[in-house]
Amino acid sequence: EQAGKGEYDHFMLKEIYEQPTALAQALEGRIDPENGRIALENFEPGTFADIDSVQFVACGTSYHAALYGSLALKQAGVQSTALLANEYSVSAPPIDDDTLVIAVTQSGETADTLTAMRHAKAEGASTLTVTNVVGSTAAREADEALFIRAGPEIGVAATKTFSSQAVMLTLLGQRIAADLHGEVPANLESLLPELEAMPDSLQALLEQSDAKAIAERYENSQSYFFIGRGLGFPVALEGALKFKEITYEHAEGFASGELKHGPLALVTPDTPVFAVFNGVEDEKTLKNAEEAQTRGAPVVAVCPDGHRAVDIADAHLAIPETEPDLAGLLANVQLQLVSYYAADLLDRPIDKPRNLAKSVTVE
Ligand code: AGP
Repeated sequence: EQAGKGEYDHFMLKEIYEQPTALAQALEGRIDPENGRIALENFEPGTFADIDSVQFVACGTSYHAALYGSLALKQAGVQSTALLANEYSVSAPPIDDDTLVIAVTQSGETADTLTAMRHAKAEGASTLTVTNVVGSTAAREADEALFIRAGPEIGVAATKTFSSQAVMLTLLGQRIAADLHGEVPANLESLLPELEAMPDSLQALLEQSDAKAIAERYENSQSYFFIGRGLGFPVALEGALKFKEITYEHAEGFASGELKHGPLALVTPDTPVFAVFNGVEDEKTLKNAEEAQTRGAPVVAVCPDGHRAVDIADAHLAIPETEPDLAGLLANVQLQLVSYYAADLLDRPIDKPRNLAKSVTVE
C-alpha cells in the first residue's frame, strides 16, 4: 500500500496533489482550438438542441459538483436543477422526453444514484452519466457517458474527482447552452483561457498553500463553518463535508446570506468561519463574514491576494486570480488541504474514515 502512496503519507494527499494532472486530462481534446467550441467525444454539434430542462442527480461530494454544474448551467440560461439522488423518487420535478437527466457519480456504482437514473429513464428522460469509471454500472446503463479521466481515487474522501467533475460539468454546460441557443455562450471567450490555465493555477496554489498553518491555528475549535455565495455555495458545502468526514469534528456549510437566518446563533470565538470569495457579490459575503466576526468568530478569507477581504479577515488562504466561475474550484483545494492537515493533527485514519465506504452500493 505504501508503494501506491509514493512520497505521500496518505492517498488523500497524493490525490490532492494529482489535481493539476487530473484537470489537464479532463480538458484534453475537449476544447476545439479552431473555434473555441466545446468538443465532447460522442456528441455531434446540436445533440442537445431539443432539451427542455436538465436535472442532475447525485450524492455526497458528487451532489456538490452537480449543484455547481447546475448553477453554471442556469447562469448560461438553461433551465436546470440539482437533486439529491436519494430524494429523487419523492422530489423529482416533472420529466418528459425533452428532459435530460445527468447522473454524476465518481464510482458509477452508487445505489441511490443508479435508482434515480433508472427512474428517470423509465419516465422517458434521456440519461447521461458523468463518471470516472469506464465500464461502471452507470456508464453501461445511461444512454450516454462522459468520463472525467481523473484516474483511480483510493482515499474514501473524494478530492480530485470533485475538481474533475466540476470542470467536466462546466464544459458540458457550455456545450448544452451553445446547442440550445444556437450560439456560443457570451462568457465562453473569457472562460476558456482560464479553464485551460486551471492545471497551472492549481499547481501554483499547491506549491504555496498555508493550509497546514491554518489547520494548526484553529485546532481544538468547537465547530467549523464554511460560507459561500453563488458557485461558492456548493464549495462551502463540500468544504464542510470533507472536514467532518475525515476529522470527525463538527462542520457545516451555509450560503453566506443564510448565516443571519439562524446559524449565527452558533457562532462564538471557537467557531472559525471559512469564507469563499468568488467575485460574485463579494461585498455581501464580506458583510456576512463580518457579522460572524463581530460575534467573536475568526474569519478565514479564501480569496486572491489583494482582495479587500484580506484586510478584514483574521487569516487568509490565497488562491490565484481567475474567472468568477472557476474561483470556487481553487478555493475548494485550499479547503481540502485544511481538512487533510486538521485530520492529520488529530491522527485520524484519513484514507479510511470510520463508518464510511468509498462506494455506497445500498439504498
Ligand atoms: C465524499 O468524500 C464521499 N466519499 C461521498 O460523499 C461520495 O461522494 C458519495 O458517496 C457519492 O459517491 P459517487 O460519486 O461514487 O457516486
